Amino acid sequence: MLPAELIRFKEIGRSITILTAWDSLSSAIVEAAGADVVLVGDSLAMVALGHATTLPVTLDEILHHTKAVCRGFTRPLSEQPMVVCDLPFLSYQCGEDKAVAAAGHLLKNSCAAAVKLEGAEPEVLAVIERLVRMGIPVMGHLGLTPQSVHCLGYRRQAEDKNSQQNILFQSLKLEEAGCFALVLEHVPSDLAGRLRKKLKIPVIGIGAGEDCDGQVRVTADLIGLTSKQPPFSKPLISGRQLFVKALQDWIKQQHPQAKTPTKAISQQGSDY
Ligand code: KIV
Repeated sequence: MLPAELIRFKEIGRSITILTAWDSLSSAIVEAAGADVVLVGDSLAMVALGHATTLPVTLDEILHHTKAVCRGFTRPLSEQPMVVCDLPFLSYQCGEDKAVAAAGHLLKNSCAAAVKLEGAEPEVLAVIERLVRMGIPVMGHLGLTPQSVHCLGYRRQAEDKNSQQNILFQSLKLEEAGCFALVLEHVPSDLAGRLRKKLKIPVIGIGAGEDCDGQVRVTADLIGLTSKQPPFSKPLISGRQLFVKALQDWIKQQHPQAKTPTKAISQQGSDY
């Protein structure tokens, strides 16, 4: 699928679904479920690599996991979901040349067809313009941008009029710079609705309400595998408990005399 197809989906009112994957098992599941786009998000730092934030994940780790995601697909190439990779922290903040090299490295060595990056500061806009000119499609990301966790925390963004105006302005700048879609994270839903109407490119929400052109979720949150889920990403099933119980039952069968651990693994509170 080409980025233009997602813009066409918006035009015809067909909702877009994006799910994350981090390895070949998860990408096979997400492909089978029918997601339009698979995002190899830098959330894999927390979901799969055990980091406390998204900041530590490296470009080579994103590439390593993207290659695994690509190997997990089972459909013919033309029917596979589009793969978008996050550009990790510091791979695009240190100049346009470095950003082109980083994004090009991902697209050259995996099946990824686009990159996502956070923010809309003048330096980021210049990077996006350059990437798009070089033939690298870019998805933007505004609102709660986890790479800025040390400035923003994990709080809901754009609660006041000024910051809403700022996001509106930034989103128009991202569209002008050539982004083919915009992820909007953890902002009031009426702001998402206003953006959806103003922009020609699809607005993909996460914690931004229903009035969006599509939704993106961290798959591990949605299936309850992570120990903490943000309030806007309620799990559909309690994956962790289901898996632990199934494995406990199997272990019990192997040696029935052993005691089952009393403290079952539990979902914890959220940082959001
Ligand atoms: O890294 C990620 O998974 C993301 C989504 C939350 C949109 O950026």
